Amino acid sequence: MTRKHNIILQPSGRRGQVEEGQSIRSAARDLGVEIESICAENATCGKCMVLIEEGRFEKYNIDSKRDNLSPVSTEEAAYFARRPKLLQDKGWEVGQVRLSCQCKIHGDVLINVPEESRGNKQIVRKSARVREIEIKPAIRKYLVSMSPPSLERPIADWERLAKGLETSMGLVRRGEENLPRWYDFEIDYQCLRKLSSTLRNAKWNVTVSVWKDREVIAVDPGYVENSYGAAVDIGSTTVALYLCNLRTGEMLASESEMNPQIVYGEDVMSRIQYAIEHADGLEKLHKAIISTLNKLLKQAASETFIKTEEILEVVLVGNSTMHHVLLNLHPKDLGLAPFVPTIHKSMDIKARELGLQINPSGNIHVLPTIASFVGADTSAMILAEEPHKQDENWLLIDVGTNAELILGNRKRLVCTSTPTGPALEGAHVEYGMHAAPGAIERVHIDEKTLEPKYKVIGVEGWNTDHAEFKGRVKGICGSAIIDSVAELFRAGIVDSRGKFRKDLDSTSSPKGKRVREGESGWEYVIAWADETSIGRDIPMTQQDVRQIQLAKAALFTAARTLLKRSNLQDPDKVILAGGFGSYIDKEKAMLIGLIPDCDLENVYAVGNAAGDGARIALLNLEKREEIDAITRKVERFELPTDPEFQNQFMLATSFPHMSEPFEHIAHLIPNRVVDPMARNFMSK
Ligand code: FES
Repeated sequence: MTRKHNIILQPSGRRGQVEEGQSIRSAARDLGVEIESICAENATCGKCMVLIEEGRFEKYNIDSKRDNLSPVSTEEAAYFARRPKLLQDKGWEVGQVRLSCQCKIHGDVLINVPEESRGNKQIVRKSARVREIEIKPAIRKYLVSMSPPSLERPIADWERLAKGLETSMGLVRRGEENLPRWYDFEIDYQCLRKLSSTLRNAKWNVTVSVWKDREVIAVDPGYVENSYGAAVDIGSTTVALYLCNLRTGEMLASESEMNPQIVYGEDVMSRIQYAIEHADGLEKLHKAIISTLNKLLKQAASETFIKTEEILEVVLVGNSTMHHVLLNLHPKDLGLAPFVPTIHKSMDIKARELGLQINPSGNIHVLPTIASFVGADTSAMILAEEPHKQDENWLLIDVGTNAELILGNRKRLVCTSTPTGPALEGAHVEYGMHAAPGAIERVHIDEKTLEPKYKVIGVEGWNTDHAEFKGRVKGICGSAIIDSVAELFRAGIVDSRGKFRKDLDSTSSPKGKRVREGESGWEYVIAWADETSIGRDIPMTQQDVRQIQLAKAALFTAARTLLKRSNLQDPDKVILAGGFGSYIDKEKAMLIGLIPDCDLENVYAVGNAAGDGARIALLNLEKREEIDAITRKVERFELPTDPEFQNQFMLATSFPHMSEPFEHIAHLIPNRVVDPMARNFMSK
């Protein structure tokens, strides 16, 4: 019998056992992960490069080693020897990077498939919305013309520039007492080092970029009209960057990529754990995100035909763990009671200190964090959606591997967070995958025949409409996972407790029973093997349903806790932020009890609100002050401290809920009966 080895492929999260001696590329294909090739595996195109991670990965219970692969072959060595620049630019070494078509598996390995090698590039669902933003940037440009120094007026270059700047900014003419004067201005040290030569080469006519009307951060010869800035949302799964013109507010480019830290853990807790368990853990996580940010900045600049040095400011947001790792602050205390971050306050840091490759004198602004797991991305979401300016009570939910929730209005805002796990994003579900071509994105089940129909990313229409679907299906992404569970429940295939009904007659398909007992328990087959590219039936299993129950119960309980603390039964409006929220069917989300009951008309998906908030803070300085003030007043609740939490959680594991009526979707489940078990968990 041939030996088998465990492999884990990131960022897809696909894992499985593969044959001894199988190539990584072929093993990946068997697991449904396509790796590029345009040389028929001849070790000449390099499209199939993968990275091998070393170390103990407790979560997967494997020791991943480069030695668990065949030695670097002559062909691989020759390929990399011809490309020293590629290795240098990426910071990779041979052995860490391998040609997946060449290297054979002889032991357990965790493999990172970089963006450029992925056969089916992920559709990153983090687009920015068109928003009205008042343009009041932190950086303004002023044209300053000076007379050259002379023996009669031997004033130093900086003081000469500062006085000229005072005139250009109109400060002297306005003469108001609280306005800065030339002696209040500062100049960034790196900028100062180039000042003398710039002034003389430019014949004393320069454009000065001033940050917050007080610090000169760039001096360019002649007249320069535009300055540029970037807003970045660092999500646990995806990093999205928007390059903007700071003068006009126009968004010039948007870039996104998977967060490379996924290799070290799919969710924030596992990344914190990685940083705790490995001496160089934080360094690895930090470097990974900095290098991705630099890559995205470079891409955005080159698309826009500007130099990265022309980018003078970046506003960054992310959850508390991403925030800490970005700032190279150890995140360990975020994961330990009493769960405190190193800092709540917003920060301004020089780009060079973080190693971000924009103008080295440029500023990096990081929005404030609110609580241990309510981070700068939630601050940005508040800025974008403005619940603090409403009379109604709004519930804002950002769903990812962790969910952050804000509830309230102009009088009071409360917040909490809860881990939801990666199931809602398609991971930890047997055939779950990220949103990419080949992923089922919509599912409908006929309640009479129990036959499904589905839509697949990259193919028009439903699978029942035409034959284009044959062999196209690879897995199920987050939106279809919600659909599937909701439809299984609505069609009566699983009961309100999430258990498969074993007495159903689902023999209508000639290919077998849709509802059947599979290798790992009861399951429902959505796509038969001949409809897929992986040659296997794609089912939703009992285990998958369970994963969704746990995730949705955590989210609902968090929402219910906030509502209770605010003496509310339901919110007036539910706002779903994040890529996930934009693609789920809100009726089905409510049918499984993922969100609280409310009029479906008042449930909105707003896309990447955190990214929008980052853009608002980039383009409007006053908004940074506004969010600093608001976040200081938000009340935080840590769920584990709530004694009611466990009971509420148990009630919320049922579809849609064990005790709540869910009137707005009641018509979809007319035969619903009250679960007698509810009594055990309801407060006396
Ligand atoms: S497939 Fe071309 S080098 Fe591996």
